[in-house]
Amino acid sequence: MVLGTGTRAFITGASRGIGRSLAVALADRGVTLGLAARSTDELQELADSLPGEHHVLRCDVADEESVRDAISAFVAAAGGLDLLVANAGLTHYGPFRAQSMEQLRQMTDVNWYGTLFTVHAGLPVLLDQAGGHVVIVSSGAGLRSFPWAAVYGATKAAQRMFGEALRHELSGTGVGLTMVYPGEIATTLHDHEKDRMPDWYRGGPAAAPPEALAAKVIAAIEKDARAVHFPPLVRILGAVHGLSPQLSDRFLRALRGGGAAPRVD
Ligand SMILES: NC(=O)c1ccc[n+]([C@@H]2O[C@H](COP(=O)([O-])OP(=O)(O)OC[C@H]3O[C@@H](n4cnc5c(N)ncnc54)[C@H](OP(=O)(O)O)[C@@H]3O)[C@@H](O)[C@H]2O)c1
Repeated sequence: MVLGTGTRAFITGASRGIGRSLAVALADRGVTLGLAARSTDELQELADSLPGEHHVLRCDVADEESVRDAISAFVAAAGGLDLLVANAGLTHYGPFRAQSMEQLRQMTDVNWYGTLFTVHAGLPVLLDQAGGHVVIVSSGAGLRSFPWAAVYGATKAAQRMFGEALRHELSGTGVGLTMVYPGEIATTLHDHEKDRMPDWYRGGPAAAPPEALAAKVIAAIEKDARAVHFPPLVRILGAVHGLSPQLSDRFLRALRGGGAAPRVD
């Protein structure tokens, strides 16, 4: 699809990080945005700073009704929907045995159920008009999961399996779907746990900028590309892991130290 004036895009997790960068890049193209998250002050600040008229929508993606209401409100206000971006997400890194059920449930509710609620509510609008595009922001952790991120990786793999099958289901409908697999991107994702990250982690402010990822996502939407892997190393890691998990263990140990794959078999 061509993105420009007249395109209407609903983005979850637009208040910060990748969602915010995507919103900025889409607004520069003239796209009308539905900016969804829980932090409406940050969304309003963003909307005020962007060219064009945009819609701020308070939305907790873990709550199905909240997602349905936000999407309906946007469709009514903008007169339709062309691009649906399921991006909102969060992490709690740490050894599984030390994590509370509340943390595990929160990642599952936001990352996995949040994606389902968003796509379930928005997709019928795209199908009715026989056109549009869905973007699902998964993670490199959905291609190869890491110790201390077992459940985060599981939620990201769930998004991957869902999106890969749905893209085929949508064949012939006029609706496209792109999966996004970011590596480490400089956002606020880990701000609440900066002091207890695993030793293999190489994110932080020096990681890849979300603006560069946003540019790749926009190009992918326009080409109806199956997936975006960014930085490109994510694609290599996914391919090596698909070929042989032992080989990807070795690759990761060389790249990130023994903590990335401590069990040698
Ligand atoms: N940064 C990375 O290195 C990286 C790597 C791979 C994948 N990803 C994925 O990229 C996506 C965006 O993450 P990010 O890095 O941009 O993180 P971020 O800077 O922390 O932004 C997360 C966004 O999600 C929103 N969000 C969180 N919980 C929500 C909820 N219950 N309802 C609605 N919105 C919610 C936040 O808004 P509110 O708090 O205002 O609700 C915020 O706008 C996530 O799915 C993440 O898993 C990130």
